[in-house]
Amino acid sequence: MSRYLVLEGPDGCGKSTQARALCEWLGGLGHRVLHVREPGSTPVGEALRQLLLSPRTGELQPVAEALLFSAARAQLVADVIAPAVRAGTTVVAERCWLSTVVYQGIAPGRGGGDALDVEWLLDLTRRVHGPVLPDAIFVLDVPPALAAARRQARAGDRFEARGDGYHDRVRAGFLRAAAGEVRAAVVDSAWPFPSVQASLRALVGRLLP
Ligand code: TYD
Repeated sequence: MSRYLVLEGPDGCGKSTQARALCEWLGGLGHRVLHVREPGSTPVGEALRQLLLSPRTGELQPVAEALLFSAARAQLVADVIAPAVRAGTTVVAERCWLSTVVYQGIAPGRGGGDALDVEWLLDLTRRVHGPVLPDAIFVLDVPPALAAARRQARAGDRFEARGDGYHDRVRAGFLRAAAGEVRAAVVDSAWPFPSVQASLRALVGRLLP
């Protein structure tokens, strides 16, 4: 039986590396696995990713950002995730609508004033996903200082380049959003990579047939 699993969390939480290792492990157990990322993993999604993450884009209105991220998600769910799940493939996705709730709803770039109504974002999400919803969302929680150190190894995108106060709000936003989402579980990711991977495997193992 296929599963749709999501890794979430602030920039620098390690979700890409953990997702790759999780896919390798699932493949080794004999599962067919597909690794996708949001925004991206479709032609339209990758074009929108380019636009959304490039520092050259400048500031966007949170409502414009939410719609563009959601457009990328709509293509990904309909064209890639739904067919894969139907065909018995387990999908490991980096990010989902929880990121939209946090980045555009709870902690928008320009401070609290532009925060979008979370109920509106959830309504939009319901239209984007229809019945195709993740079985589990693992929110990798790391202290902002550790996430910043991990981010330093790479060139920052529009979101990563924002100041420390912003990253504190994002972390708190993820914890708040996770508390309100039945599919979400918080995974302490301040531990070294192998410990976090072991926690994820234990959690995913419970969902496997
Ligand atoms: P990410 O894929 O984590 O990029 P990288 O692997 O290079 O770190 O994230 C892309 C950025 O987009 C990240 O800063 C969070 C942001 N984002 C939103 O603001 N809203 C969304 O709905 C999504 C999916 C991502």
